[in-house]
Amino acid sequence: MKFYLPTLVYSEKHCVENHKKELADLGEKAFIVTGKHSSKVNGSLDDVISALSSQGMKYAIFNEIEENPSTETVMKAANLGRAAEVDFVIGIGGGSPMDAAKAIALMINNPGRDADVMYEKCELHDALPVVEIPTTAGTGSEITPYSILTYHKIKTKKSIAHLVFPKLTLVDATYLKTASAENTIYTAVDTLAHLVESYLNTNSNSFNRTFSMRGLEIWGSVKDDIRRKKFSEDVYEKLMEACNYGGMAITHTGTSLPHGLSYMLTYNLGVPHGRAVGVFLARYVRLFATHGPEDARKVLNLIGFDNLDELEEYLDFILGHVSVSDDMKKANVDAILSNAAKLKNYPFELTEDELLKVHRYGEE
Ligand SMILES: [Fe+2]
Repeated sequence: MKFYLPTLVYSEKHCVENHKKELADLGEKAFIVTGKHSSKVNGSLDDVISALSSQGMKYAIFNEIEENPSTETVMKAANLGRAAEVDFVIGIGGGSPMDAAKAIALMINNPGRDADVMYEKCELHDALPVVEIPTTAGTGSEITPYSILTYHKIKTKKSIAHLVFPKLTLVDATYLKTASAENTIYTAVDTLAHLVESYLNTNSNSFNRTFSMRGLEIWGSVKDDIRRKKFSEDVYEKLMEACNYGGMAITHTGTSLPHGLSYMLTYNLGVPHGRAVGVFLARYVRLFATHGPEDARKVLNLIGFDNLDELEEYLDFILGHVSVSDDMKKANVDAILSNAAKLKNYPFELTEDELLKVHRYGEE
């Protein structure tokens, strides 16, 4: 067995303040990568600026990361970061800024190369060091080496071909408090999907399963709070912890069919990532159960569901109906079936009919 996870992770209240000296160890000038609003509202941006300032460090800010960031945005930021002569990159936010920070850190160190090299298995200079500060509990990007960008050339989201592990991750669940209930639910479902897809995965071994099992137990302990939209400090802390476990788990295995199928919904219909993944999650467990019933039952039991119907009804309730046309289903299934990389994490043979059934919803 093998497990590799080189990111130094701290998780505690006032984490940024507590570990500001470790930021100073990474260089003299930071490139802060974030979105327009949320890092200002939840206090994370102020915390980072005050930590850097107290260490006498310089910084530049790029705050134009959009939802599902594009390769174009990454290239724009990388050019600015290189011109500003930054030593390392700090991603603050949800999956979008954190994923973008990794790709930006890579492209800053690869001047003269175009965006396409991110998707080619080619030799590149190593990325600048990356620090991640999550302000949502969903993506796990604060721990994974993955950077998923919108690649308009192929009209979907896709993980870049180069792995960039964050050097340092500073986790403080306090930043979750200002998110909307809707966003908290969608990101929580993303976490759930990571935990499940890693457990039910071709690459699964007992290392990643240990993370998944603990994460699923924690997720299960707050599932009724999520249903009631009752988000206390304790619930936020548990969601963040489960999210971190999900990141650790998929760092080893990658995700599986729900993630692979979700990207087209996000690209074409603008469905938020966690909600898009949730369209496929219960049916994925159902499909897996036809070949590996014990593993599927274990997952259900860890979350605290007695059967597959309960999981499906629960996800229907918290996510609502997502209308997917028959044409889009067919296009999605065709795209997956022609992509060996997307199929390889599902350990059994797959038919077109099975993949169509993994789509929970039809047209309204
Ligand atoms: Fe995800």
